[in-house]
Amino acid sequence: MSRVPASYDRCSATIRKRYIFLRKSLQIPQTVTQWLGIKIAVERIGRDRDQRVWGLQCRCHAPQMCALGRFLKMAKVVGISGFENSIPFKKKHWPGLEEREYRISQGHDSAAVLMIDGKIVAGAAEERFSRKKHTGDFPIGAIRYCLQTAGLKPSDIDEISHGFDYAPFKAAFMLDPTSAEQYKEVFSREKLLSQVSQHLPGCPADKVHHINHHLSHAASAYYTSGWNQALVVILDGMGEAHAVTAYHAHDNQIDKLAEISAKDSIGILYSIITLHLGFDFNSDEYKIMGLAPYGNPARYRHFFEQAVELLDNGLIKVPILRLNNERLDRETYGATRRYLEEHLIPARIPDGDTTDDHRDVAAALQECLDKVMLHICGHFGRKTGLRKLALAGGVALNCTANGRLLQSGLFDDIYVQPAAGDDGSALGAALWSASRNGGVQNVRMPVPFLGPEHSQAEIDKALADTGSRIEVTRFATLAETCAEAAKLIKAGRVLGWYRGRMEFGPRALGHRSILADPGHPEMRDRINAMVKMREAFRPFAPAVSLEQVQDWFEVPKGLELPYMIMTADVRPQHRAALPAITHVNGSARVQTINKKDNPEFHALVQAVGQVTGREMVLNTSFNVKGQPIVNTPREAIDTFLGTGIEFLFLENTLVRRAAQK
Ligand SMILES: [Fe+2]
Repeated sequence: MSRVPASYDRCSATIRKRYIFLRKSLQIPQTVTQWLGIKIAVERIGRDRDQRVWGLQCRCHAPQMCALGRFLKMAKVVGISGFENSIPFKKKHWPGLEEREYRISQGHDSAAVLMIDGKIVAGAAEERFSRKKHTGDFPIGAIRYCLQTAGLKPSDIDEISHGFDYAPFKAAFMLDPTSAEQYKEVFSREKLLSQVSQHLPGCPADKVHHINHHLSHAASAYYTSGWNQALVVILDGMGEAHAVTAYHAHDNQIDKLAEISAKDSIGILYSIITLHLGFDFNSDEYKIMGLAPYGNPARYRHFFEQAVELLDNGLIKVPILRLNNERLDRETYGATRRYLEEHLIPARIPDGDTTDDHRDVAAALQECLDKVMLHICGHFGRKTGLRKLALAGGVALNCTANGRLLQSGLFDDIYVQPAAGDDGSALGAALWSASRNGGVQNVRMPVPFLGPEHSQAEIDKALADTGSRIEVTRFATLAETCAEAAKLIKAGRVLGWYRGRMEFGPRALGHRSILADPGHPEMRDRINAMVKMREAFRPFAPAVSLEQVQDWFEVPKGLELPYMIMTADVRPQHRAALPAITHVNGSARVQTINKKDNPEFHALVQAVGQVTGREMVLNTSFNVKGQPIVNTPREAIDTFLGTGIEFLFLENTLVRRAAQK
């Protein structure tokens, strides 16, 4: 153990204790434990130098099976994300900015994920509990939910892993007093520890670890891909200091191939243009993706070709992001936005009219992103010879670019981790830590129903509490419920559909959904008017049984798209008959439903197929504009009553408004 350097003292005490216990409890001769100790210490040092992971790893061939691997396993790991103080710090130091500009900050979408013995047990974003959309607050609501689900106390947690590690970048923050304070108040270990001790009193500091942000995203993609070997590409606005990182993941290792600085971030450029077009930074990028097919990319293609340089080494440069030298400009991307004002188009006022200028800029930007993703992923795919690609990071939520990659033929298979945004970095932090400490089961993640479910008693209480305003019909079985729902969908009605565990990640995949008939000509406008209050230009997504997906969409045989995270083309002969889910360019954000993964939703679309001939529904998330997706039965009833949704199914109970009697 003397080989462990002083800087790792916090770990070495734990190692020493474990070896002594191991030797005594398993009665292994001291010579063997000495040998193991040296081997593991060396392994651990290597890991720390490269990737700053604090933990132990057994390097034998079967870490799940061997006594040492089991012994070293950190059985209960909680991954978390978010920086609670990020926006408050910005408001304190730069008062008077537009509210939208405060979202130009790090650490939104905080979340917690619990892993026990290498298996994902529970996970949810904090916004679903605090009801503050995209909140970065310390995820205590999500942690409490995870612990409650597993019947654990806070003291049972073996490790808390945060999906950011700013310590290696501390020096860069010490160059000016404001940045130094920002480091201390927002990003430092001390700040996180103070939040942990405030919310989880008695939790020792040595249980709290920091995982590099892109490594967290990469672990979230690799360890849920089910692949032993893959190219993993992470693209987001930025992690601690980088915007893109490419990895070669194999045999329980994630080796970095290359990275692109946040100063050349395609994600940040996309978000700045989103802001320039009158939408919200770090929030509304998907609306630009939805607007793009209405525009002509040719008009501003040259601008984006100049703005984003594709380099021969697979990387990119974005010179207009380097204009922000003043401290305030670095907080607001002010110089870049002034450049756009002068050289692209004037900024659109939020909620103002959307013109051809805006549509054409969106189209050219989306085309640019598509090219960048093909350029980066294609380069590292060719260089490594890897034909499987796993993606995560906020940019990987861009369904259009993912669809282009899929169609490109550059890869045999593409997996996008469905919680690709920063809620997913909590998942990745937990997976990475668990993988170092006994291993994880690297199997393809099923539809991520990892959130809370509510008992019939809780549903009955919510129904009783709102009893004067509703009328209730109970069905005995799922089959009867689905038959009734299918009849209503065929009749052009809009349903709230609430069942089982809530989804982890941004999409509603059949447990917290609003459903309708995709073939109804006015359905898009009706749902927008009655509940979504959103921009009319965005179509809704179709959810279709795996058995019928090829009948309606142009997808390769056997391809599953269970997470609604890639576009595919609607078959030309069906486009006119599916107006509510077909985009102007013929694409759709398809979700396939597999009976094994998502049986109740599958039963519903089968029942719909019986009456309409199409095992397909329009599926959009159960929330109103600006609110998180509903979590509890009471939130579902309140949202139902507060909007124009016509019927609500809470498990096997149908709820109508009392006025409809
Ligand atoms: Fe991220």
